[in-house]
Amino acid sequence: MTAASAPGKLILCGEHAVVYGRPAIALPLPDIRAHAQITPGLPGSGVQFRAPDLERAWYAHELPDDPLSELARATVRWLDTPTPDLMITLTSTIPIASGMGSGAAVATALVRALTAHLGYSLPPADVSALVYASEQRYHGTPSGIDNTVIAYEQALWFTRRMAPDGQLPLAAVEPVTIAQPLTLVVGDTGVRSETRLPVGEVRRRWQAEPDRYTVLFDQVGALVHQIRAALAAGDNLALGTLLNANQALLEQIGVSSPELERLVATARAAGALGAKLSGGGWGGVMLALTDSASRASVSAALQRAGATRVLETVINATAQA
Ligand code: PMV
Repeated sequence: MTAASAPGKLILCGEHAVVYGRPAIALPLPDIRAHAQITPGLPGSGVQFRAPDLERAWYAHELPDDPLSELARATVRWLDTPTPDLMITLTSTIPIASGMGSGAAVATALVRALTAHLGYSLPPADVSALVYASEQRYHGTPSGIDNTVIAYEQALWFTRRMAPDGQLPLAAVEPVTIAQPLTLVVGDTGVRSETRLPVGEVRRRWQAEPDRYTVLFDQVGALVHQIRAALAAGDNLALGTLLNANQALLEQIGVSSPELERLVATARAAGALGAKLSGGGWGGVMLALTDSASRASVSAALQRAGATRVLETVINATAQA
């Protein structure tokens, strides 16, 4: 048997503006993961999938257009090997469609397990490229931030640049220095939101009011630079204020929602250093930066305010160079 896994992720800052070439910072969530297990299949079976959490099972050749069938085929093609006979079991503890990267993590676990099972080891950039192509099926033109942070599995500064052919975006990726651990509390609004919907709406608004949206995206970009400096300095108080400012800009961009704002206000009132939505918006999750004194009270307050799920996670400081 071959097993592999991949983490969930959170966008700390810069979502939406990242689609328009401004930087964003994303964090892997090592404690919540998607898993892929591979066992040999019957001769001639081809690739068979089982996703017990979703109560789904299928043969890749019967559902060739399924994104995971396609991804398995693309991976085998990338490795230039014949189609193997095997059974792939996919499981995940990452909430679906809530901005925590569940789709990209399942896809990454699949690519990692399949390549390992076939005796190969792909560098993160190649895993990321395979998963990006698959993500396009769900999201249209994703910036690539999800597949990148999940494949590299480290806190990343991410800037998208469109390739000349307009197809695969070229990403500039740099590690981010985190001088003090970040204690984050994540609250799920329970409102499922498909990322491509707010992304499409922002595109329409930007086309209708390019000057206004260019200024908003520039302001987000400037904040992301300040956030990188606060992370490097270990200044979590300043970081909280900057996350609040990012939330204000996301509200102006039009991707917040009453449910998100209720949880954000609740977290701040319960002592969070800062709070904002994370990911596509209109639903999904928000994150709150807390400290040891406020972590439990923020968590409890979010639960009382109706968050359908509350997760606490600590992002470790990065090794200092
Ligand atoms: O909803 P998520 O976590 O997949 O995040 C989407 C992030 C956006 O910036 C809104 C879109 C993108 O492709 O970067």
